[in-house]
Formats: sequence, structure tokens, C-alpha cells
Amino acid sequence: MSRRCTIAAMAPSRWPLANLRLQTPGLELRWPSPEDLGALAELAALGVHDPEVQPFLVAWTDASPDERARSTMQYHWSRWGSWQPSDWTLELVVIRDGVVVGSQGIRGRDFAVLRTVSTGSWLGRHYQGQGIGTQMRAAVLHLAFEGLRARHAVSAAFEDNAASLGVSRKLGYRDDGTEWHAVRGRPAMVRRLRLTRADWLAARTVPVQVHGLEPCLPHFGLPADS
Ligand SMILES: CC(C)(COP(=O)(O)OP(=O)(O)OC[C@H]1O[C@@H](n2cnc3c(N)ncnc32)[C@H](O)[C@@H]1OP(=O)(O)O)[C@@H](O)C(=O)NCCC(=O)NCCS
Repeated sequence: MSRRCTIAAMAPSRWPLANLRLQTPGLELRWPSPEDLGALAELAALGVHDPEVQPFLVAWTDASPDERARSTMQYHWSRWGSWQPSDWTLELVVIRDGVVVGSQGIRGRDFAVLRTVSTGSWLGRHYQGQGIGTQMRAAVLHLAFEGLRARHAVSAAFEDNAASLGVSRKLGYRDDGTEWHAVRGRPAMVRRLRLTRADWLAARTVPVQVHGLEPCLPHFGLPADS
């Protein structure tokens, strides 16, 4: 029995999120096993972006490879430990051809009331620019709009992050204002983006299958029969 099965079997009725899986034609997104998380940490150590830029609002990549690997694991553990139906962050590993290639997150705060999710993601540098980012965001948008009945999804990226903005554009997001952040001691403009349910329906092209969602619904703050 693999370690992954061991975790899922530990208490499936208590933590059904470990069995949640999203599938696109080329990818699987799943709750990370310890091995998956180890592989993701190694990917982070190898580098996530051009060191000349800092694409994240939290500058976790401005650190040594060892620190990036450790903080990757600690971040995932912290999201597991702090999960609440009223404030959850689902961080899934992204698998292509059996290999961990990156991480896709989706967050809901007071989701049952606001029906709004936000997303964040990264890929190992070797895997960027091949359409994977579009497919993995499409996967969690399907989970949000189809599985959880979201009304809005929001995203944000620095104005020079063409890849992240490109993913949002392809998936139907519209501009939703700007804000300024301090990055490495300088002001940097962030573009906020918003996707409505109607725009998601009009733009969606990636077929996505969701497995194991029903027992997870109360963990997302929703009634079991929603
Ligand atoms: C952001 C990220 C997840 C996007 O995933 P990706 O697989 O690289 O993006 P895709 O290949 O799906 O590209 C999506 C669109 O953006 C465009 N694009 C991608 N990289 C680009 C680049 N460097 N410059 C210009 N356009 C780019 C693509 O051409 C594509 O549009 P098209 O199909 O119309 O040509 C990935 O690049 C990444 O991990 N970057 C580093 C970390 C990061 O920035 N995370 C997000 C923080 S907000």
C-alpha cells in the first residue's frame, strides 16, 4: 500500500479532502501525499521564476533553495492545520505524466455567504509556458463554479507577470482595479481580476472531472446535500 493510500485510509470520513482529485486531459490535481510534497519542495528548491523578478505578493521565493524547499512544506502543513469551513485554502499538487510539476491553490473565506474564491499557483520553471498553468487554473475554477456553486473567482498579478495575466485572460477574467505593493523596496502595481459565473461559462474550454467532492462539501462550509 502506498503512503498516499495510507493517509487517505487513516480517517476518510474525517478528512475526505485527501481523496479529492481533479482531472483535465493532461493533468491530475490532488491533495499532496508526503512524497508529492517532498517532490514539490525539490521543485521549489530548483527555482520558480527569474530571480530578477518577484511575482508573489508574499516574497517566499526570495530565499535560499533550502529555505524555499522547507517553506513550501511548512506552507502546505499550515494550510492543513488552519483549515476551517469558514476559511479554507485548498493547495493541490499538479501532476503531469506521473510527475509533480507545480502547485495550484484555491481559497474561500466565508464562502457559503460570499461564494467567491481566490486562486494562486506556481509551476517549476521547466514546466512553464506549455499551457499547464491554464489547465490547472481551469481545473480549480471548475471545482469552484460547478462543484461548489461559486459566483465569482478573483485573481491578482503584478502588471509585468504576462504568464499569470495570460492565464486569466484566456479563462475569461475581467479587470477589477489595481493596487500597489512594496516589492524589494519599490512600488509595484498589481492588477486585480474577476471572473463571474457567466463569463466562466462563456469562456470555458478545458474539460474537467472532479472526483470525491461530495463528502468534502461540509469542509467547504456547504451543506452535505448541496
Ligand atoms: C503563472 C504560471 C502559473 C502560468 O502558467 P504557464 O503554464 O506558464 O502559462 P500558460 O502556458 O498556460 O500560458 C497562458 C498564456 O499566457 C501566455 N504566456 C505564458 N508565459 C508568457 C510569458 N512569459 N510572456 C508572455 N506571455 C506568456 C501564453 O502565451 C498563454 O497565452 P496563449 O495561449 O494565448 O499564447 C507560471 O508561468 C508560473 O508558475 N510562473 C511563476 C510563478 C508565478 O508567477 N505565479 C503566479 C503569481 S501571481
